[in-house]
Amino acid sequence: MSKQDVALYAHWPFCLAKCPYCDFNSHVSSSVDHAVWRDRFGAELLRVADEIGKRRVTTIFFGGGTPSLMEPETVASVIDMADQLFGLSPDAEITLEANPTSAESKNFQGYRTAGVNRLSLGVQSLIDDELKKLGRMHTAREAIEAVELAQRIFSRTSFDLIYARPQQSLADWTEELAQAIHLATDHLSLYQLTIEPDTPFFELAKKGSLRTPEENAAADLYEATEDLCGAAGLLGYEISNYAAPGAESRHNLIYWRGQEYIGIGPGAHGRLRQGERWVATKSFSDPMTWLAANDLHTDSGPIGFEHWDDVSPEERAEEYLLMALRLEEGLSLAEHAKLGGRGLDLARIADLAAADLVELQGDRLRVKRQGRLLLNRIIAEIAA
Ligand SMILES: C[S@@+](CC[C@H](N)C(=O)[O-])C[C@H]1O[C@@H](n2cnc3c(N)ncnc32)[C@H](O)[C@@H]1O
Ligand code: SF4
Repeated sequence: MSKQDVALYAHWPFCLAKCPYCDFNSHVSSSVDHAVWRDRFGAELLRVADEIGKRRVTTIFFGGGTPSLMEPETVASVIDMADQLFGLSPDAEITLEANPTSAESKNFQGYRTAGVNRLSLGVQSLIDDELKKLGRMHTAREAIEAVELAQRIFSRTSFDLIYARPQQSLADWTEELAQAIHLATDHLSLYQLTIEPDTPFFELAKKGSLRTPEENAAADLYEATEDLCGAAGLLGYEISNYAAPGAESRHNLIYWRGQEYIGIGPGAHGRLRQGERWVATKSFSDPMTWLAANDLHTDSGPIGFEHWDDVSPEERAEEYLLMALRLEEGLSLAEHAKLGGRGLDLARIADLAAADLVELQGDRLRVKRQGRLLLNRIIAEIAA
């Protein structure tokens, strides 16, 4: 990635319904004026282009919320403006996150025509009863049909499943995952269910009426996931992401490798290099506030980002550590030292290596497979 290259994330904050486990910035709204949203995405992009100058966009990711509720014209206008303002690299990876209801599948061809070349579907489970418990608006059949349709339309596809669900046995998961691997092409995102604060699942867990697998059982599920995916040629290149070599999400790798990205849309974050400085940007999270903040037609003019803050070298180095240790390729000690101005504590790393949790090979520090289950503790130990 050369110096001026940048990724672009666009957030669509609406969903048909709120899933009880989800704490993403997503809202249910009966009235969305798509022409206004198109206009404001354009205004935000224009302002960012003014602020950061000429860059080349190598990847775009439409995330949410549910971007498959966007009109294809809105998706096309963001892609076209990114091209006009920054220039899109000829092989740009353009991903859109979609929910697999049959109504949304009708938009897939329109997204392809708009320039999307990778579709990432939120399947979550291939079992109808489980989909109901997760509060999903689609059946397993609809999800399978959406995946197959996407595979016919887009050159690259992926889908997400959530595992380590309440009462899920190892046998249940291996059967479901085998079916998923059979359905998949070359990329899968497999997330262990996280009970997020302030969600309905959190309240149920607090009352004891929802219980996720104990640590040991969750570890067994993770081991089985690695084994089954590995045997099918899908390598765990990140803690929850599996791909055939070359099929990794280039956009997400940019985050995990600590590189530059623009964030637009409600609540989106960005990390940008301004000369030797790094800035962290954040757009207003509330959709109505964001619309007002990017309105070019008011007397006072647009307000723009909620935050545009300097990131200190120490903070950059810590962010890089947190992100890169999720990756199979690990982190570069030299890159970490360059960002933060000081190296990592090699004695601590040697202790973790002696416990067979991490591996140091030349400049690369990697968390080993058995260490991945303890990733947060390892990061805390190294960052201390
Ligand atoms: C931004 S979300 C949703 C995309 C899309 N709206 C959907 O629901 O299919 C991206 C992915 O995060 C995962 N996810 C969301 N909340 C989660 C949680 N609490 N635990 C584990 N995975 C979660 C789901 O697999 C989901 O597909
Ligand atoms: S999981 Fe997806 S569809 Fe469900 S509320 Fe979250 S963003 Fe919306």
